Amino acid sequence: MDYTDTLREIASHVQPYIGSGEVASYIPPLAKIDPRQFGMALYTLDEGLFVIGDAYKRFSIQSISKVFAFAMAFNLLGDDIWSRLDREPSGTPFNSLVQLEVEYGKPRNPFINAGALVVADILVSHFAQPSLAVLQYLRRLVADDSVDIDLELAKAEQHLAHRNIAMAHFMKSFGNLQNGVDEVVDAYCNQCAIALSCAEVVMAGAFLANSGTCPIRSTVVTSRRQTRRINALMATCGTYDAAGDVAYRVGLPAKSGVGGGILAVVPGKATACVWAPGLDESGNSLVGTMALERLTEITGWSIF
Ligand code: DON
Repeated sequence: MDYTDTLREIASHVQPYIGSGEVASYIPPLAKIDPRQFGMALYTLDEGLFVIGDAYKRFSIQSISKVFAFAMAFNLLGDDIWSRLDREPSGTPFNSLVQLEVEYGKPRNPFINAGALVVADILVSHFAQPSLAVLQYLRRLVADDSVDIDLELAKAEQHLAHRNIAMAHFMKSFGNLQNGVDEVVDAYCNQCAIALSCAEVVMAGAFLANSGTCPIRSTVVTSRRQTRRINALMATCGTYDAAGDVAYRVGLPAKSGVGGGILAVVPGKATACVWAPGLDESGNSLVGTMALERLTEITGWSIF
């Protein structure tokens, strides 16, 4: 199949909508991003990489980092991780605190902010340089040491991380945070501020389409069993309170970030990443979701 044509068709389908949606304004450097950008990459296990538009331009991966941080922590703790996290969709915005009190400080899943902070805490406990742990993991997956943290963005987010700090304190009061709040929130903000291009995100995530083995270097990143579970969590919890709508429209495990990127996995076949900075009301890329919807319409790749 010629995926170049597939990407061209998707790009012309979304063209009238490019620039739609609102850029994330609560992190000042993200508020300055031009919303009229669009890039998409596809990494197929059979035929390799295909790109269109701004696919080589690096953007802030934000919450897409939660998938990689979780994969690291899941590797370290195995199923013991579920004593600190649940695996249910939250049906609430990514930064919501409301369920934490009634659920005794145990976050609904690793992909909402509360869950990602618990994951960051696990990494802080295990790594000598916790604020660089996810960066180093991604550099290995992408095989490129030029991948970096946007430090200006990380700092801006740390200054405004009132909700994340509140959440971390709250979970600490329930005994579900082992390290200092500042250290955990710093590590979390640093992982969110890693910049990757669509072409790099599909390479980094390719193990998720390939039962846990990186198809480029043939190294095992996660076990087959863990990989299936990460994909299940992405499908049910990866796009927050829009997870049902994304399952209905796109039908793929996916993880979004407020930088406007979305990583989607087609188990056994491919990874896709789309970047368009304008967000919908749930914080998912508006044009990005449309592009993925078109992708599964054209290819029949929905898992449903
Ligand atoms: O915690 C935050 O607010 C951000 N650094 C990450 C949020 C994010 O990307 C949520 N995704 N849609």
